[in-house]
Amino acid sequence: MSNALKEYLSFSQARVEKALEDRLPSDKLLPQKLHQAMRYSVLNGGKRMRPMLTYSAGLALGVPVEALDGPACAVEFIHVYSLIHDDLPAMDDDDLRRGKATCHVAFDEATAILAGDALQALAFEVLAHDPTITATAEGRLKMIVALTKASGSQGMVGGQAIDLQSVGTRLNLPELENMHIHKTGALIRASVNMATLAKENVDPAVALKLDHYAKSIGLSFQVKDDILDEESDTATLGKTQGKDKDNDKPTYPALLGLAGAKQKAQELHEKALECLSGFGKEADLLRDLSLYIIQRTH
Ligand code: IPE
Ligand code: IPE
Ligand code: MG
Ligand code: MG
Ligand code: MG
Repeated sequence: MSNALKEYLSFSQARVEKALEDRLPSDKLLPQKLHQAMRYSVLNGGKRMRPMLTYSAGLALGVPVEALDGPACAVEFIHVYSLIHDDLPAMDDDDLRRGKATCHVAFDEATAILAGDALQALAFEVLAHDPTITATAEGRLKMIVALTKASGSQGMVGGQAIDLQSVGTRLNLPELENMHIHKTGALIRASVNMATLAKENVDPAVALKLDHYAKSIGLSFQVKDDILDEESDTATLGKTQGKDKDNDKPTYPALLGLAGAKQKAQELHEKALECLSGFGKEADLLRDLSLYIIQRTH
C-alpha cells in the first residue's frame, strides 16, 4: 500500500466513523433494541471501502469532502443492511461478521431483519435530508435514484436473488459475472457515482470514465472476496472462511481455479487503470484503491 493511500485511508476512515455515528439514532431512543442492533452492525470496524471510494472520486473531481459525508454514509448504510440480511439463516447463515457475532446471533432474527430494513430507510433519509449535502435538489434526486437502482431488484438485491437461486448449480462465466456485477458491483459503482452527482456540470465523458472504472473495481472486489473466502483464514477475515464451498456457491475460484481468479482480478485492475488514463495525479488515490482491492488480506 502506498504511503499516500495509508494516510488517506486513516483520514477518511476516521471521518466516516464520526459521520456514521452522528447519523445513527441514539441507542437510548425507543425502540432501544432496534437502535442498538443498528449501531452494533454499523459501528464495528468495517473497511469502509465504499465511503472511501466516494471521497476519493470526489477528490478526483474537486468536490469538497464535507459535501460527501452524507452520500458516503448512505452507501455504507445500504452496505451494512445488505450484510445483516446476507448473514441471516435464510441466506448465507453466517455467525461471524467483522470479527464479531452477526446481528441475528447477537440480537435475534426478527431484530436483524428490522435493523436491515431501518438502515435502508435511513440511507435514503440521509440523501433526502442531510443538511451537509450541497448538491441542488436535482442533484439530490439523482443520488437517490442512483442508490435505489444500485440496491434494488436490478442491483444488489437482484444479485443476491441470483446468488441464492444458483446454489448447487454451475454458472458459466457470463452468468457468474452478471451475478457479481449486481450483488456487489452495483453498490460500488454507486459509491463512485455519488461524487459525480454531488457536483454540477461534470463533463459527461469524465463521468463515463469514472463509471467504467467503478464497474471494473466493483467486479474485482467480489472476485477478491471469493478468493479470500478460499485462501484466507477466519481470524484475518473476521468472517468464517470456506463458507462459499460449504454452501456450494458459484464463485470465481470454483469456476476458474485460484490462479485463474487471481488473473481475472489483475486484468480488472488493469482495466480500471486504463479508464483513468485521462486523469492526472488527482486520481492517484482511485488508482491505489483499485490495487488495494485486489491485494487486500480481508
Ligand atoms: C463484504 O464487503 C461483502 C461483499 C459485498 C463482498 P466488505 O469486504 O466491504 O465488508 P466490510 O464492510 O469491510 O465488512
Ligand atoms: C455478499 O456476498 C454480497 C452482498 C450483497 C452482501 P458474500 O455473501 O460473498 O459476502 P460475504 O463473503 O458474506 O461478506
Ligand atoms: Mg452471500
Ligand atoms: Mg455471505
Ligand atoms: Mg464472500
